[in-house]
Amino acid sequence: MAIQVPRLVAHRCGGALAPENTLAGLRAAAGCGYRGVEFDVMLSGDGTPVLIHDESLERTTNGHGRVADTSDAELARLDAGSWHGAQFAGEPVPSFGDAAELCLALGLWANVEIKPTRGHESETGRKVALAAREIWSGMPPPLLSSFSLEALTAACEAAPDLPRGLLVVAPPADWLATCRRLGCVSLHCSRRYFSPQLLGDAQAAGIPLLVYTVNDPQDAAQLLHQGVAAVFTDRIDLIHDRAA
Ligand code: G3P
Ligand code: MG
Repeated sequence: MAIQVPRLVAHRCGGALAPENTLAGLRAAAGCGYRGVEFDVMLSGDGTPVLIHDESLERTTNGHGRVADTSDAELARLDAGSWHGAQFAGEPVPSFGDAAELCLALGLWANVEIKPTRGHESETGRKVALAAREIWSGMPPPLLSSFSLEALTAACEAAPDLPRGLLVVAPPADWLATCRRLGCVSLHCSRRYFSPQLLGDAQAAGIPLLVYTVNDPQDAAQLLHQGVAAVFTDRIDLIHDRAA
């Protein structure tokens, strides 16, 4: 399955312009002309997929404790915006469903990063994949990715038709075999471990390489010029690309 990805992808929804993993972030990305976004999806204590990066609530909300121990009702009371700026006060922790619907309304392509808490890898992969399949039914699908091979395996079993990307920090020697085994159609790696050799190997295998997190405009331009399929960036205010 060949995939089309926008060359620029707003990291954690709206990058530096909005609180991460929020609906305000999606609006910020669209407002900057971005056509693609990446966000992190985890299960709440009730098993509902929600957008959040950390396993604990403290850094990006006014709540305390673990996401996996927090009910939907408790999550709904949290403020996920004030930490970033007073103008975002009251911004909710979005459900995956709400974020997905907004992506569709704004015409945003999505890379849905499945971010399971420890012990919930398979359940998270399965639930996120099933929800994504339902929401994007009949539409060009999002790209699912994860650092967790268990989550990717479960996503593949639940919704084999949805494209998946292998997400790594440093690509292991057997990354291509892992992609083939899990039916992954893209490789996502850290900027720190990008190399022309890796790009050449990925291109030879027909696997688009996506690189995170690239916040220097010149670096982004150079990577895209070299043949990287997409870069994830926080600097949606600085990095633009007519072809994105
Ligand atoms: O999916 C790319 C990137 O988001 C992975 O790192 O920690 O920002 O989710 P992180
Ligand atoms: Mg992420």
